[in-house]
Amino acid sequence: MGDVVRVALAGLGTVGAGVIKLIDANRSLIERRAGRPIEIVAVSARDRNRDRGVDLGRFEWVDDSTALATHPGVDVVVELIGGSDGPALVLARNSIAQGRAFVTANKAMIAHHGLELAGAAETANVPFKYEAAVAGGIPVIKGLREGAAANEISGVFGILNGTCNYILSTMESAGRDFADVLAEAQALGYAEADPSFDIDGVDAAHKLSILASLAFGTAIDFAGVDIRGIRHVIAADIVEAQALGHRIRLVGMASASDKGLFQRVQPCLVPLEHPLAHVTGSLNAVVAEGNFVGRLFLQGRGAGEGPTASAVVADLIDIARGETGPAADPGVRGLRAEGIPRPGDRRRTLDDRLGKHHPFRRVQGQGWRHHHPGGR
Ligand SMILES: NC(=O)c1ccc[n+]([C@@H]2O[C@H](COP(=O)([O-])OP(=O)(O)OC[C@H]3O[C@@H](n4cnc5c(N)ncnc54)[C@H](OP(=O)(O)O)[C@@H]3O)[C@@H](O)[C@H]2O)c1
Repeated sequence: MGDVVRVALAGLGTVGAGVIKLIDANRSLIERRAGRPIEIVAVSARDRNRDRGVDLGRFEWVDDSTALATHPGVDVVVELIGGSDGPALVLARNSIAQGRAFVTANKAMIAHHGLELAGAAETANVPFKYEAAVAGGIPVIKGLREGAAANEISGVFGILNGTCNYILSTMESAGRDFADVLAEAQALGYAEADPSFDIDGVDAAHKLSILASLAFGTAIDFAGVDIRGIRHVIAADIVEAQALGHRIRLVGMASASDKGLFQRVQPCLVPLEHPLAHVTGSLNAVVAEGNFVGRLFLQGRGAGEGPTASAVVADLIDIARGETGPAADPGVRGLRAEGIPRPGDRRRTLDDRLGKHHPFRRVQGQGWRHHHPGGR
């Protein structure tokens, strides 16, 4: 058995507490698989006295989370604070500069600063890992970078936000309106008090931009994602879609071609025969099309304490094993964003992106309407 991997944990909310619980519950199998024990040695959050359902007395408490970058005796810093900038980014930059391995679940930070951080990690030759940042517990990054590594990927798409999928599938099963289901989701704790990042498609766009960079070897280009959320979807749209054998899903989709990088998040009409139509509730799913493997379909929990902690600890196990790989694709392609489509190019269904004809289109600002040949 090798030396202990000593971990500092910044952020003790849903995911941070989940990581502690997972390591406690699966300690011996993690040690066996990692070949070394993985021990949390120091932790940090805002409120030292908050009950988090885990015993924190055995860890060193550090008031300033950014100080974990230089805290003595730490091998890996795990950032689970969140936010694209602020203490999370300071901690990331400083940890990498100190030559410390860095693990995060922070899709907002990776979408905005991933390229800089990956470059710094490569220069410093330190592991930099973020499996939990895309689709939570689903091993999408590993799937693309390892399992599908031999393939040219022509497209990736998927359901990348569990809150939106919960709202859309509840609207569908209960025949209720958006605002009503959103209010209930907030009361149940499935949606944030400020749900805009989720329902306006920003969270899905963060994940899509990371996914696209991994699939196509391009620089992360969050600004190049064309984003539409689900605020304007009404119950009647769902009924209309159902009558025609479709379901409405918020789909993130990306492809790369000679024209550039195409990235879009939008509500889509998904035919019932497509597997994405059957992703219900808060589940996430990612589809990747490889030129030798064909279609890959990965489905699972994209958020929550257990699933997200599972991805974070998988990164820690990789680091313990010395299997870290490059933080970004070494052959980063300089593709520019394809650009915002012209008004005549408004056909935006999933099938359109897959090259199949489909009699639907989006009428901007009015939710979804189907397009009758010769009609509206
Ligand atoms: N929740 C999920 O299912 C999920 C899934 C995938 C990825 N993620 C990502 O994982 C990260 C953490 O998410 P979460 O849901 O665990 O968030 P959370 O429950 O809100 O927890 C955030 C933690 O960070 C601490 N914190 C906030 N501001 C801080 C500051 N300025 N200095 C030090 N500590 C600070 C908080 O401290 P206090 O507890 O003392 O307030 C809290 O412990 C985010 O990047 C999120 O996008 C989450």
